[in-house]
Amino acid sequence: MIYPREVKICEVVGRDGFQNEKGFIRTEDKIRIIDSLSETGVWKIEVTSFVSPKAVPQLRDAEEVMAALKRKDGVVYTCLVPNVKGAERALGCSVDELNVVISASGTHNLKNVGMQVEKSLENLKEIVSLSLQERVPVNGSVGTAFGCPFEGVVPRDRTLEMVERYLDMGVGSITLADTTGMANPVQVYGLLTEFKSRWPRVPVALHFHNTRGMGLANVLAGLQAGVDAYDSSLGGLGGCPFAPGATGNICTEDLVNMLHDMGVKTGVDLDMLIGVSLDLENIIGRTLPGQVIKAGKVTCLHRA
Ligand code: COA
Ligand code: ZN
Repeated sequence: MIYPREVKICEVVGRDGFQNEKGFIRTEDKIRIIDSLSETGVWKIEVTSFVSPKAVPQLRDAEEVMAALKRKDGVVYTCLVPNVKGAERALGCSVDELNVVISASGTHNLKNVGMQVEKSLENLKEIVSLSLQERVPVNGSVGTAFGCPFEGVVPRDRTLEMVERYLDMGVGSITLADTTGMANPVQVYGLLTEFKSRWPRVPVALHFHNTRGMGLANVLAGLQAGVDAYDSSLGGLGGCPFAPGATGNICTEDLVNMLHDMGVKTGVDLDMLIGVSLDLENIIGRTLPGQVIKAGKVTCLHRA
């Protein structure tokens, strides 16, 4: 089997994870988790999002979190922005990257950010021009890139058209997000093989949710298509509050454990990561979906 020997991990618990919790997670707890993640060796951390506090009250402390975190050299601190106001707020906090999200499905885009896709793309022009002035790169995330909980399967050409629109506007890298875990490995392999043949030099990351238990199988399909960057969330928290039935992202510890067992390097210290996940479980106050924090690594053997 051919697949990349090194993979980059983008940790999204600060945004995808915390946005979907019923209760408000205390700002100091968020900061402690992000700071601990910075030490684990992850490539990128999606710290929070600069969205309307009415839409996502769980992340109303975005500025405070960004101001207080201890930046670790080499780690990219990114934030999600839905509109120009969000981009201005994020740039005011010296983020390393803006992560713009527009859904491939018109219905989900409307539910998520209250705009038609074309309106979101129009706003993107202004966001890109603002970020160019500040020399901050923009990552374009395509939401519901594989399936939409309202419209069903999203055709491959629709997702590729969104990628083309992003690239035409000067977006430097792409994330394809399976917002409610509707992708399957065959679909992932097909779409990403085509992506890679059309844009071999464009950095692409995959963002999977484990809603139907296919998250890590989809990672394997992505790896086989040559994709070397994945979003995941500590403990497997996560989900979009504007998509019915949304559940957690693929779990970072489980992903890193799988990759390491396959001989793929991530640069992440798995033991340290498991420690942070246990801290998160205490903060959240319930058992998290992740498997490795329950079972331990395969090298953790039991007395006969
Ligand atoms: N940050 C903070 N406040 C914002 C904002 C932002 N990025 N964008 C808009 N607002 C405020 C406006 O200032 C206005 O405030 P006011 O009522 O005090 O005057 C209010 O929100 C409404 O502004 P409007 O432009 O009409 O926005 P909206 O109500 O149509 O909401 C979004 C649009 C995009 C801001 C909102 O849908 C949103 O934040 N969605 C978040 C989606 C998300 O995070 N999904 C999960 C991740 S995929
Ligand atoms: Zn997500």
